[in-house]
Formats: sequence, structure tokens, C-alpha cells
Amino acid sequence: MARIFSGIQPTGGVHLGNYLGALRYWAEDQRAGESYYCVVDLHALTVPRDPAELRDETRAMATLLLATGLDPEACTLFVQSHVPEHPQLAWLLECTASMGELRRMTQFKDKAVKGGEEAARVGLFTYPTLMAADILLYGTTHVPVGDDQRQHLELTRDVAERFNGRYGDVFVVPEAVIPPAGRGARIMDLQDPTAKMSKSAESDQGMIGLFDEPAVIGRKIRRAVTDADGGAGAVRFDPDAKPGVSNLLQILAGATGREPADVASDYGRYGDLKAAAAEAVTEMLRPIQARYRELRADPATVDKVLRAGAERAQPVAAATLARAKEAVGLLPPR
Ligand code: TYM
Repeated sequence: MARIFSGIQPTGGVHLGNYLGALRYWAEDQRAGESYYCVVDLHALTVPRDPAELRDETRAMATLLLATGLDPEACTLFVQSHVPEHPQLAWLLECTASMGELRRMTQFKDKAVKGGEEAARVGLFTYPTLMAADILLYGTTHVPVGDDQRQHLELTRDVAERFNGRYGDVFVVPEAVIPPAGRGARIMDLQDPTAKMSKSAESDQGMIGLFDEPAVIGRKIRRAVTDADGGAGAVRFDPDAKPGVSNLLQILAGATGREPADVASDYGRYGDLKAAAAEAVTEMLRPIQARYRELRADPATVDKVLRAGAERAQPVAAATLARAKEAVGLLPPR
């Protein structure tokens, strides 16, 4: 049977890229195997965070995941720091991965460049080994993620294979499950369609937040950069030649469950495409936002789901960690 694991950082700016690239597939596929979804609060500490906000955003993210349709009867939803095995296995994997392979991680390079590598937290550097631990603890076979996590998944596989090669078969080697191009794999910034939509972008005008009001969604999409040909070109799906228009097509297709190339044939003008995309995104988010508001008023229920999730996840993680510790030669306590 498939074991599914994925995670998301609990930071305020959860956006349409997160939803179309990952979260909606989590909800769709939660019954395709034994599934685990994790709010990765430890990962959030790799850059400065306000403690009170982090606590609040962790619960808010769990609430949002329930609002998108994760069903605690069908999947295990939990907070990373509630299962202490994650950082414990991460240490064993830090002792498996090499400096060189971590230095090649583009996410580290991008983020470290912004603040300067000297000042970057060590945790930002070792982040991918904690992510590998998240995945490997659950005997995961499938990891649903957006395209930007591809390199982290390759590292996870390499580290798992190296560990197994050295110490015997402890880990299942997982596979990334990335949506096909045009089906949410990489939603781009509305203001700069050559960069991915991201919470760390300088301006939020290129990012649609999952909590944006209809008027804000409409405005951001209306102002989205289309193409250098000044609106004269046809509406067609061609991410290389027409990144802006193709991104809008991908968004509209994602929100209506269609293929971008197929959607393109319905529109002659950029203005009509934008109006349709804004409408479709608003309608897609409306029920999620309503459910979120309801659940947000009932934090005790969310906390209960998270407690039950951690209670289910922890023994699975503990069993894998015990095998890994034994394999490397750590003396068990007697
Ligand atoms: P995070 O929190 O940045 O993003 C959560 C998910 O959203 C996807 N995503 C996108 N998909 C399409 N277009 C975009 N513009 C876009 N931006 C983000 C991401 O690919 C991801 O699937 N390192 C991970 C969190 C993590 C994790 C894990 C994931 C920690 N441990 C174990 C899977 C398994 C991250 O920072 O995702």
C-alpha cells in the first residue's frame, strides 16, 4: 500500500501556488494510501520568526488544511515538533549527507544570498536533512509536492540509498509526485511570470493569498503582467514564449479542473481571460475561506485533531528511528 507524506511551513503567506501545486492534491489523494500531512514548524525556525506569531500560524495552518478538505478520519494531520523523532533522525542523516551536496541545494543558495551566507542560520543549511527525516520516518513511498521541491526529494533519495548501502535496508526510498507541467506544478508570480509565486517575494502584488478577498484577487489578476506584445498576441498556452498568459491559463485551468491548452481556445482577449481567472479563483477559494472562518472559531477542535495526529504518527516514527539507531551501532539503553 502507498504511504503518502507531505509537509508545509506554517507561515502567514500561504498562497495559490501552495494550493494548486500541493494542498489540493493532498485533499484529493488522502485516501489513496496511508497518508500523513505535517505542519513543519521546525523548518520555520531556519529564518527569524516571532514566537507568538509562529505559534498562532502553526494552528492557523492546521486549520486551513482542514478547511481545504483534509479529513482526520482519512489521514494523519500533525505538527512536526510534536513528534520528537524528526530532529533525532535528522542528526543521523546529517551524518550521512555531505557538505558538498547540501551546498548545491538551490533553495539554500537563494535564501543565503539574500541575507548573506555568513549570517545564515546553520539550520537553513541542514534544512534538507530534516526534510529527509520527515519523509523517511514514515516509510513513505509517495511525496506530493510542487516542482520547487524536486531537488530536495532527489537528496532524500540519495541519502536514503547511501544509508541503506552502508547499514542495511532501513529506509524505503520515496518518490516525488509532482503535478504535470501546466497542472499546478509551478505557479508563477503575477508581476514576474519568470519567478515562482512565493511568500518571500518582495511585493505581495504578484501573489494571491488564500485569504485574499474577491476584490483583491480581481485587482491582482487584472494587473498581472501578460506579455511584451502589448496584448496583441493570441491567448495560447506556451510557457516559454508567453509566460504571463500561460500562468493565467494554468491558474484558470487549475481552478476549473481543465487543461490549460483547452481553456485557451475559449478566449480571444487577455481582458476576458483575466476576468474569468479572477472569477474562478474567487469561487474556488470561497468555500475554503468560509470553512476556515468556522474552524478558526473553534481552536479546541483543531488542537484535538493535532493531538490525535501526533499520537498516531509518533509510534510509526519511533519504530523507524529505533531501526536506524540500531543499524548505525548506537547502544540501546538497558
Ligand atoms: P513550502 O511550505 O514552501 O510549500 C508547500 C508546498 O507548496 C508547493 N509550492 C508550490 N507549488 C506550485 N507553485 C508554486 N509557486 C509553489 N510554491 C510552493 C511546494 O512545492 C510544497 O509542496 N520544504 C518544504 C516543506 C517540507 C516538506 C517536508 C515537504 C518540509 N518537510 C517533507 C514534503 C515532505 C517547503 O518549504 O514547502
